[in-house]
Amino acid sequence: MQNIKLSIDKAFGFISEQNVAGYKAQVAAANLALHQGTGKGSDFLGWLNLPSTIDEAHLTDIENTAKILRDNCEVVVVIGIGGSYLGTKAVIDALSNSFDWLQTERKSPVIVYAGQNIGEDYLYELQELLKNKKFGIISISKSGTTTEPALAFRLLKTQLEEQQGKEASKKLIVAITDKSRGALRTLSTQEGYKTFVIDDNIGGRYSVLTPVGLLPIAVAGFSVRDLVAGALKMETVCGLETSFEENPAAQYAAVRNELYKNGKGIEILVNFHPKMHYVGEWWKQLYGESEGKENKGIFPAAVDFTTDLHSMGQWIQEGERTIFETVISVKESNFTKIFPHSEANLDGLNFLAGKRVDEVNKMAELGTQIAHIDGGVPNLKIEMPKLNEYYLGELMYFFEKACGISGYILGINPFDQPGVEAYKKNMFALLEKPGFEAETKAIKARI
Ligand code: PA5
Repeated sequence: MQNIKLSIDKAFGFISEQNVAGYKAQVAAANLALHQGTGKGSDFLGWLNLPSTIDEAHLTDIENTAKILRDNCEVVVVIGIGGSYLGTKAVIDALSNSFDWLQTERKSPVIVYAGQNIGEDYLYELQELLKNKKFGIISISKSGTTTEPALAFRLLKTQLEEQQGKEASKKLIVAITDKSRGALRTLSTQEGYKTFVIDDNIGGRYSVLTPVGLLPIAVAGFSVRDLVAGALKMETVCGLETSFEENPAAQYAAVRNELYKNGKGIEILVNFHPKMHYVGEWWKQLYGESEGKENKGIFPAAVDFTTDLHSMGQWIQEGERTIFETVISVKESNFTKIFPHSEANLDGLNFLAGKRVDEVNKMAELGTQIAHIDGGVPNLKIEMPKLNEYYLGELMYFFEKACGISGYILGINPFDQPGVEAYKKNMFALLEKPGFEAETKAIKARI
């Protein structure tokens, strides 16, 4: 079976192949530090061997729990923010019908999200939508104390209890949180919800293969077994036994660090399939939160092509030359659509007649690659044979492993996120949270 494939040759000319090969020893040391747990943030390496440690009983528990929600809900609300929802949404969106919410003959509940923002209109509209609907909740928070999901959970739990009764609603709520700490754990124990544990040693943005991702993905009707199998394959391919030349995570980590050293401070993740928009969002969190610290780190951006070629395409072609692109290219579409012939040919498109739509998309992809290289944008490419659970599993583990290696080469801790606390402290001070009296006084003096 083919795996996802990384090509870095279109970066050469901007940086030298020799210099990338020069990272060999550094990459090997970083990879070893991950496996031996000797690098920075080594308490957060639970994701590293996760695919090979997920057992049958765990997968069955996930699937059985998913079945209860599938059998009893028209809509399931996944509550979580950051790493507690992005991986889920990336996988579900990439695998779902593009017009999923309009499907009438449904086999699976509609998955919607809450707790990923504090939009009052968003929450109002969601609660209106859920009125008279059979809905369930998967509440996800590792810390169990994050404001956004806690706020959404209080609102939606109250609504569910009002609509279904307190006892019945307990079967429709699943919590995924720390094994003993946090308000969500306390609440779940008291209410008797079904729970899954997020292990201490797995950070949010590396948690898509824990119940954080697996449960909602299973509820949406997708194969978590295939997702894990793909990740497992990459655990081996990106492991210690693989040579630098054969290890895509090693190569990706090396080439992006060399590009960064040569003034390419922005990486743009590109897709040519609109369903992959949230893969870009997940990837942005993974790399942004992992590497952006100590005044260092590549800024991760993402675009959907060809859509954004008609907006950001101008900047990419001719703006400041501080960018490089990493293109995710899906080799085979899941469906076939042939462009029809027209006798009148009034639109002048008969040159496309008989071609697959994907052939046009692929030429757009190739044309863009050549144009952007000509415009001074180094180009990396990740080819996925197909858009399915297995290859998404491969892709996500590959990116996680490369992120760990890349962060170590950069010299930072890729597993913490101290900067995320700054806004929270100010928000609590402004909202006069008990315990923040001094901060409240100080911040009010500034506004
Ligand atoms: O990657 C991370 O650690 C963060 O994005 C968290 O996932 C996010 O802040 C949500 O945290 P929690 O799951 O504790 O509510």
